[in-house]
Amino acid sequence: MRRPLMAGNWKMNLDRRGAVELAQAVRRHAEHASKVDVALFPPFVYLDEVAKVLAGSPVALGAQNMCDEPSGAFTGEISAAMLRDVGCRLVLLGHSERRHVYGEGDALVARKLRAALAAGLDPVLCVGETLTERDANRTEEVVRRQTLAGLEGLEPRDMSRVTIAYEPVWAIGTGRNATARQAGEVHTFLRGVLAGRFDDGVAQTTRILYGGSVKPDNIRELMAAPGVDGALVGGAALKAASFNSIIDA
Ligand code: 13P
Repeated sequence: MRRPLMAGNWKMNLDRRGAVELAQAVRRHAEHASKVDVALFPPFVYLDEVAKVLAGSPVALGAQNMCDEPSGAFTGEISAAMLRDVGCRLVLLGHSERRHVYGEGDALVARKLRAALAAGLDPVLCVGETLTERDANRTEEVVRRQTLAGLEGLEPRDMSRVTIAYEPVWAIGTGRNATARQAGEVHTFLRGVLAGRFDDGVAQTTRILYGGSVKPDNIRELMAAPGVDGALVGGAALKAASFNSIIDA
């Protein structure tokens, strides 16, 4: 069955020392957490250092973004191969901040996803509607479009390496999480999308995380919602105490 994954997206936070100390504290804790997988997504410049802290531990390392091209004249970009080289196994793609602050569209996200798979990185495809879209009853249309576009060209067997993260934009960093019911509805819907696009096997085995104001005091309820296989945590992942208590839940 699907093993839960608790993932910490540090976004553009912490300094070198803070990153190392947080990774050390999560590592110590995760070594005793046998029921869940744990992953950390530090800023690019600390990946190398955090990789050393996590070496030989059960905690997976991931990047928050990457370039869709393998190498070349792309000033300021980081390739999938570079991420592999410093020890990343995972990469977040299409995070709402990439889509909405930096204008990344579905086609670019899809190219990144294929580039990640080709280079041996396992992608976490992020999808989610804005408040305007939810209020206009367009949630399903938006997450279906983002999911199908992001997975363009993939075969069912590729899906064993893909995780999906449902992150409603209105719940990110706002303190206003989706209710368990809202999360459960979208997760169930997304499983239907996967069944239609691939097959039931893919729908039942693909991990779908929830993200958006996950905290120690709402994680249990969210994890109990149908089809929620873990969490992608922002703010509450920046302190060892709160992220570790999310791992325990
Ligand atoms: P918050 O947990 O801070 O709302 O962020 C969620 C998120 O965007 C994780 O990727």
